[in-house]
Amino acid sequence: MDLENKVALVTGAGVRIGQAVAVKLGQLGMRLVIHYHHSEEGAKQTIQRLPGKKSRHLVLQADLKDVSAIKELVHKAEKQVGPVSVLVNNAAEFFPTPLFSVAEEEWDHLLALNLKAPFFLSQALGENMKSSGEGKIINMVDVSAERPWKSFLPYCASKAALISLTKGLARALSPEVQVNGIAPGTVLPPPEHIEMDLTASVENSLLKRIGKVEDIVQAVEYLLQSDFVTGTILPVDGGRSIY
Ligand SMILES: NC(=O)c1ccc[n+]([C@@H]2O[C@H](COP(=O)([O-])OP(=O)(O)OC[C@H]3O[C@@H](n4cnc5c(N)ncnc54)[C@H](OP(=O)(O)O)[C@@H]3O)[C@@H](O)[C@H]2O)c1
Repeated sequence: MDLENKVALVTGAGVRIGQAVAVKLGQLGMRLVIHYHHSEEGAKQTIQRLPGKKSRHLVLQADLKDVSAIKELVHKAEKQVGPVSVLVNNAAEFFPTPLFSVAEEEWDHLLALNLKAPFFLSQALGENMKSSGEGKIINMVDVSAERPWKSFLPYCASKAALISLTKGLARALSPEVQVNGIAPGTVLPPPEHIEMDLTASVENSLLKRIGKVEDIVQAVEYLLQSDFVTGTILPVDGGRSIY
């Protein structure tokens, strides 16, 4: 698919990995819909980091736990910048939920954002992608989907289900739309990540280091430029998944 001047929606694009992915897509000539939830300043910075005219891009706020907000986001995006050809489901939450203290609201929160939102975004955008004859969806999963961390079970379950969803969407939206996932190992620990966890990330990998945001950005670029890959999950984890 020729990416030049096509529209990409990146969720959670005001910070960290989402921001870096959006900047790369801008460098590849795409028009961006920069979604954010709370990071308004970050979303504005993302726009500033994009090459060329800032007016080619759009910043939109939405709480993606809410399906009506997803529909409104998609409606505004398509009305203001045109049909969306690329969707990067990047937004997610990650926090500890020890088995014997996790609350129902925490479970609902994690599953709504990490799983339900990618589904309804894909539903809202997939139909147009299919009828236009092309489109790409990339879901950010996690190395822990296949080897769940015991204190993060709802998060890991949400990402495991997102792997299944990635494969299912690849089938449902074929042959026009390619749907793939990227499974990062630790590339950018949350600020509150404790030293011990990071040591484990390094030790329990083949390459004995954590990754860089650029490693994920390169994987996104590869999946967008490849026209013969669909329904796959690309681990970008320094060999952690097979350690
Ligand atoms: N960082 C890593 O090393 C790593 C490892 C494995 C997998 N991953 C996956 O890679 C992706 C990006 O990771 P990251 O570390 O860059 O993420 P992050 O820093 O935790 O950022 C999360 C993003 O989700 C958005 N978000 C949170 N709650 C939301 C809501 N209710 N509605 C809409 N958006 C919401 C945030 O938006 P605002 O900031 O605007 O509120 C933010 O942009 C995630 O899917 C993550 O699971 C990351």
